[in-house]
Amino acid sequence: MKTADIRADIPLLEDYIYLDAASTTPTPRPVVEAMCDYFYHYNANTGRGAYRLAVKATYEMEKARKKLANFFNASPDEIIFTKNTTEAINLVARGMNFNKGDRVVVSNMEHHSNLIPWFNLQKRGVEVEVVTANPEGVVDPYDIENAIDKNTKLLTITHISNSIGSVQPVKELGKIAKQNGIPYLIDAAQSAGHLKINVKNLNADFIAFPGHKGLLGPVGTGFLYCGQGLQEKMEPINLGGGTVEDVSGKAFQLTPCPSRFEGGTQNIVGFIGLGAAVDYVKRIGILKIEKHDKKLTQLLYKRLHNMGGVTVYGSPENIYGIVSFNIDGINPHDLAKILDETQNICVRSGQHCAIPSIEHLGARKVEGTVRASFHYYNTPEEVKTLGDCLENISQFGK
Ligand code: ALA
Repeated sequence: MKTADIRADIPLLEDYIYLDAASTTPTPRPVVEAMCDYFYHYNANTGRGAYRLAVKATYEMEKARKKLANFFNASPDEIIFTKNTTEAINLVARGMNFNKGDRVVVSNMEHHSNLIPWFNLQKRGVEVEVVTANPEGVVDPYDIENAIDKNTKLLTITHISNSIGSVQPVKELGKIAKQNGIPYLIDAAQSAGHLKINVKNLNADFIAFPGHKGLLGPVGTGFLYCGQGLQEKMEPINLGGGTVEDVSGKAFQLTPCPSRFEGGTQNIVGFIGLGAAVDYVKRIGILKIEKHDKKLTQLLYKRLHNMGGVTVYGSPENIYGIVSFNIDGINPHDLAKILDETQNICVRSGQHCAIPSIEHLGARKVEGTVRASFHYYNTPEEVKTLGDCLENISQFGK
């Protein structure tokens, strides 16, 4: 599939230059059609009824789980459906039985979703060690290793920073976690569907995934990869229908993973859409997406780097899919509004729900940055339009 083919499947791209894949991606037509098919032809609950519609709905949702497992080299029982990456991370934070004196090691380049659940555990006496990245937003594995001690119960890091796109050495950190016998959680919010991920190569026990960003699935979908070693040690946080094998008196016996973690009626149509989205990403080819996004990232970074009066964050060798910047003297939200209202360019502005990282980059005092983020549907021409616009605006700023 070419970029033109995916653009034909996303009508809103005719009117907008959509550069906010890091927030969410527009849903391609075949994904919408798979969801319509559910609504029109087999709209029933899963895992419950014996009638044919219910069996079909169950079959299709489980087929989506298998597709995800296959795409990331996991097994289906390691894929727990959630509503987003945040919920997947919270599942680990609340399910892992942290006790007073336990420590969690994390970086200062995280999205709030991979900070607040840990900070919240401080109420229970858990200590959180926040490791500072270098000025380009990359964490040094040596610093992580130094931060780990005998009380460390979890190491967690984002794969790609959502605020500036810096790529973290997740594989190396996986080795460190393994050597120290510490469970390891990766936040793949900005890498899933953008970079090839083989869960078995990362030594991760947990990976929190979004469905609605790089994977091109619908909003309201995400999942947690939970490796087999830790499934039994995690407490489900949402007990109820679908999570128990048997109830006798007041006692109950949980089902195995993943259903013990999926209490209540699920976002069935969303996960069926996500299954179709994985097929779609496979049709494009993950390595083609990777190459394409890299090219656009470099194109914009270089253009901005050479522009006077512009600050670009991160280093070009180590950012992927995201370019974060400011024009001197212009508030990032004002700049985003100008881009939208004059050229229909959609970019995110502000602190990107990652205030510590923005602080680290020195951008807090200017209320954050402007962030452009890409997917396979974006074109070099769109990057040029953005660059031309910013060049004009930066002249005004002087
Ligand atoms: N996490 C999403 C972002 O960075 C919402 O925009």
